[in-house]
Amino acid sequence: MSEKATIILDGKNYELPVITGTENEKAIDISKLRAQSGYVTYDEGYKNTGATISNVTFLDGELGILRYRGYSIEELAEKASFTEVSYLLLYGELPTAQQLANFEHELTNHTLVHENLVKVFEVFPTRSHPMGQLMTLMSALSSFYPDSLNPNVHPDEVNTTIIRLLAKMPTICSMIYKKGKGHPVLYPQNKYDYVTNFLYMTFGDVTQEYMADPVVVDAMNKLLILHADHEQNCSASTVRIVGSSHANLYASISAGVAALWGPRHGGANQEVLEMLEHIQTVDKGDVKKVVAEAKDKKRLLYGFGHRVYKNFDPRAKIIKVACDNVLKKLKVNDPLLDIAKELEEAALNDPYFVERKLYPNVDFYSGIIYKALGFPTPMFTVLFALGRMPGWISQWKEMRERKEDIGRPRQIYNGATLRPYIDLKNRK
Ligand code: ACO
Repeated sequence: MSEKATIILDGKNYELPVITGTENEKAIDISKLRAQSGYVTYDEGYKNTGATISNVTFLDGELGILRYRGYSIEELAEKASFTEVSYLLLYGELPTAQQLANFEHELTNHTLVHENLVKVFEVFPTRSHPMGQLMTLMSALSSFYPDSLNPNVHPDEVNTTIIRLLAKMPTICSMIYKKGKGHPVLYPQNKYDYVTNFLYMTFGDVTQEYMADPVVVDAMNKLLILHADHEQNCSASTVRIVGSSHANLYASISAGVAALWGPRHGGANQEVLEMLEHIQTVDKGDVKKVVAEAKDKKRLLYGFGHRVYKNFDPRAKIIKVACDNVLKKLKVNDPLLDIAKELEEAALNDPYFVERKLYPNVDFYSGIIYKALGFPTPMFTVLFALGRMPGWISQWKEMRERKEDIGRPRQIYNGATLRPYIDLKNRK
């Protein structure tokens, strides 16, 4: 017999179905509760609400587990390429050699952007933030494909839009970097793989031959894989909810970029590095003082805490090791890494952080690697978006394939009740 939950409201029993996921996660299905009882549920910030039934990513915050389509993040980061992981997220299975070759061929052949898109950069002031630019460019892409905006077409047509978006993302991200430096943009080269092409367009220049450092390519691949999806987080939920109105994919992704920019979400990677620099210069490396101020709620420790992980963020563990390796291999000696480690140790041994289960998250060490690879701090969240693109698209695609209803939460109205209009002359 299928499990049921009973809720008693105004002395009346209501039986609600219980849904069990493949990892034995249980949920009470309240979708008919209002129709039957007049009650809605209340859960600010969706801390306890499953918004969908998904097959993409599994996360156990208590055990520190993250899996894409059943494959552990540790194994994928160690063994796979970013394009393989993108395929896995989008289509549900690891590609065969032929499928991967076809997918990469398609991506390689859609990397160019319309020349008029490059002109959009002319209107940005020099100091405009890369994430603001990325958001604009994502929605600007929609202007160049007016015939493929309708998401209700044949899946093959939708797939072309997906390929376009994934393929153009490295081109656009590297353009943002180049424009920020005032350097000419570099066009993609079909001889390079996805990640090398991005690094070439970013760090190559028109004056000399580009030599990709395998250490840098490997680190970039890992970082992109670690960021590729994270189930129903703030930006993925935004992409899904915007897409649920049948808005086109570019508009939905642009909204996801906006959500990611916030310092409580992806924008934390920029904040972490700025915080570490502040600790180094202004706080003179006094980590104890910083921890004490965080406990007094005078400051937030960026890169610490997570809505779902109440144990180590498995991505942070992998990034910490990668950070040590990359800096060693590139012979970079960054005192910010020592400060980060000191801060981590101080926080993890402090009852305030232990009781609240605040551990380093994905953003804590990633910025130190990005810095060692040569990226300026304001570009960090753009790199997060580059990695997250296959995840956002997979979440959007799943939402469309499940034919989900338009996302539209309820509320508990707590404002003024009906009152008569007061003429302007009578208002005090
Ligand atoms: N530094 C100091 N104290 C913290 C921190 C932190 N980084 N994070 C949470 N706390 C404290 C809160 O003040 C609260 O304390 P209280 O119980 O005394 O009131 C307690 O820990 C619980 O915190 P909540 O804010 O309720 O936790 P929530 O799950 O809502 O927030 C969040 C999670 C937003 C990530 C939060 O930990 C935070 O702001 N961290 C810093 C920003 C950050 O690194 N964001 C990136 C997250 S990963 C990602 O999105 C890619």
